[in-house]
Amino acid sequence: MNKNIDNNRAREETRANKDMIHFNNAGSSLMPIPVADCLHEYLYQEEKLGGYETAEVEKQLLDNFYTATASLLNCKIDEIAFAENATRAWDMAFYSFKFSPGDKILTTIAEYGSNVIAYIQQAKRYGVEVVFVPNDEYGQIDIRELENLIDEKVKLISISHIPTGGGLVNPASEVGKIANAAKIPFLLDACQSLGQMPINVDEIGCDILCGTGRKFLRGPRGTGLLYVRKNLIEQLEPPLLDQHAATLISPTEYQIRSDAKRFENWEQNFAGKAALGVAIDYALSFGLESIKTRIYYLANILRNKLENIDGITVTDEGLEKCGIVTFAAVQMPASSIKQNLRKYKINVSVSDGSGSLVSFQNRNLTEVIRASLHYFNNDNEIDFFIESLRKTLINNTA
Ligand SMILES: Cc1ncc(COP(=O)(O)O)c(C=O)c1O
Repeated sequence: MNKNIDNNRAREETRANKDMIHFNNAGSSLMPIPVADCLHEYLYQEEKLGGYETAEVEKQLLDNFYTATASLLNCKIDEIAFAENATRAWDMAFYSFKFSPGDKILTTIAEYGSNVIAYIQQAKRYGVEVVFVPNDEYGQIDIRELENLIDEKVKLISISHIPTGGGLVNPASEVGKIANAAKIPFLLDACQSLGQMPINVDEIGCDILCGTGRKFLRGPRGTGLLYVRKNLIEQLEPPLLDQHAATLISPTEYQIRSDAKRFENWEQNFAGKAALGVAIDYALSFGLESIKTRIYYLANILRNKLENIDGITVTDEGLEKCGIVTFAAVQMPASSIKQNLRKYKINVSVSDGSGSLVSFQNRNLTEVIRASLHYFNNDNEIDFFIESLRKTLINNTA
């Protein structure tokens, strides 16, 4: 029994728990009541007062997004930008780097598809070389190989902490040590890890980090965040600027602001920003270490039970495995399993490989079921999930 999390509180404060089993927290988790209420109330206020007027009245609530994020990541508030999602947050930082022919970007086999597309785009534009650092025997980035690949041509180390299609947790702080020693900027895509475990940018040693609201942070969709280390901010000119990111000072000159808000848009999802701040405070109220312990405990149980079902292969890699549990079944395609589980009011998702193409091709995988657990899930739900999965597979072979 895991005693770290008040599971009763977590379940009572998650309305939809009563109606279904949500194992799609890496897709989009369920907003807890305080977060959903903040979002609804903010929008209601905009309807009653007007959007600009609500932003004035709710300034403190909106500013809380920065304070909460700074506590979550252990950084300063002027190192944080709000974004519409993790990809745009990442893009705004990544496309600020000025690459020259022959420059190298080191990344991981488990890198997220959109990020790989961006690397290839820069490779086509500027002749950058994209290097996929090989995995070690556990399927995580091989730290020794990474170290051996460092040379003066490496301009960026950029990895996903946790891939989209598996439970692997890449050893981010080991990567950070190497990047820091070589004085190479380290960009960490923490989209799948934020809200699932403690993320301390100083301990990890990353210079840039992106995250999304809707996954393990349990915020609303259409929200994201970016962290950029203070000493790097002014070196990075965002690929897009508006008059929030910069000030027009003459008909021919502009000045870019000196904080991380240079990566933001003027127009934003204000309700989402307010609610994401509340979601982060909510996660902090449980404690990220406790959340991690609880999630790992549940995921470990689920993996063990899945491994006892004939025809099922658990496909998670890594020495450390998180709350994302992926598997394939010989009896049935992943997409059919997902649809069948819906009949039992169980939500899971399918990773079809586009988000993890390099890794999936290396392993001959096409699609896997992704059951992603959060701290509000419980042992009974896992038992019901396993029972429903068994019935689904038996009905298919009958
Ligand atoms: C590793 C990783 N990075 C980035 C993203 C993109 O996040 P967003 O949809 O918020 O842009 C995802 C989404 O699944 C992801 O898994």
